[in-house]
Amino acid sequence: MIKNNHKTNAKTVLIVGATGGIGGALLEQLINSNQFDKIFATYHSRQPTLHDDNVIWLQVDVTLEASIKKMVKVIRENSSHLDWVINAVGILHTDSHQPEKAIRQFEPDFFMLNMRVNALPSLLLAKHLKPLLKSAIRESHQPAIFATISARVGSISDNRVGGWYSYRMSKTALNMGMKTLAIEWGRSLKNVCVVVLQPGTVDTDLSKPFQGNVAEDKLFSADDSATKLVAVLQNLQGQDTGLFLDWADKRIEW
Ligand SMILES: NC(=O)c1ccc[n+]([C@@H]2O[C@H](COP(=O)([O-])OP(=O)(O)OC[C@H]3O[C@@H](n4cnc5c(N)ncnc54)[C@H](OP(=O)(O)O)[C@@H]3O)[C@@H](O)[C@H]2O)c1
Repeated sequence: MIKNNHKTNAKTVLIVGATGGIGGALLEQLINSNQFDKIFATYHSRQPTLHDDNVIWLQVDVTLEASIKKMVKVIRENSSHLDWVINAVGILHTDSHQPEKAIRQFEPDFFMLNMRVNALPSLLLAKHLKPLLKSAIRESHQPAIFATISARVGSISDNRVGGWYSYRMSKTALNMGMKTLAIEWGRSLKNVCVVVLQPGTVDTDLSKPFQGNVAEDKLFSADDSATKLVAVLQNLQGQDTGLFLDWADKRIEW
């Protein structure tokens, strides 16, 4: 259901990829927190099952600029601003491709797909959502937020085991994009925190094939990860823009 409620002081959030494992858990957390008056949530191929009076569902392919523009049009019809944006979209494997263990498995199409789904969308979102973030309700202790779920494997300095060329490189590219955006918006869009987040190893479809070597206490449920990530976001201050943070609110080196 789409509400035509233009209350200018209504707190609003956009969760992109809200039918994914982590995105869905974030949505549930934010509904239950009562922190937001309005929640825009996007889905792609999987139909949403979680419905709430405050949630407006939008179907979006975040790799297509036209689809993002269509989404922004609907958001603008229903809100003057966005306070938080969280992009929880990503891929690691497909039905036909697993992440590479060695360079002989490297295939251009799979590499480009990783770049397209993991690196590109946050830049397109930033390009088209800037005006909505500009009107966010910002206070010094409560900045507006533009967050993307990245992955620790995107850290160059943390890369000790190798492998996963396409996923790793797409997350590194994402991180560079968001660091660059944080610098630009630090000049032109005050008090908006641009951050990339490491959610932990989380029990979702994305990680299923790779959970074998993960100790039980190191594998988070999606709910657990979302609780920790929301706490990290709630703790952000304006000066935290441009950081790569993990679920425990610890800084990850690039
Ligand atoms: N799970 C982990 O252990 C882990 C660890 C580190 C980082 N991460 C990161 O966390 C994020 C969320 O992952 P997850 O574990 O929640 O995976 P997931 O359950 O597979 O969710 C991924 C989401 O991305 C969406 N998506 C894929 N392509 C899309 C597109 N073109 N347009 C719009 N949506 C698209 C999927 O929607 P459809 O299925 O409908 O296409 C799905 O909602 C990813 O960025 C991932 O890299 C996860």
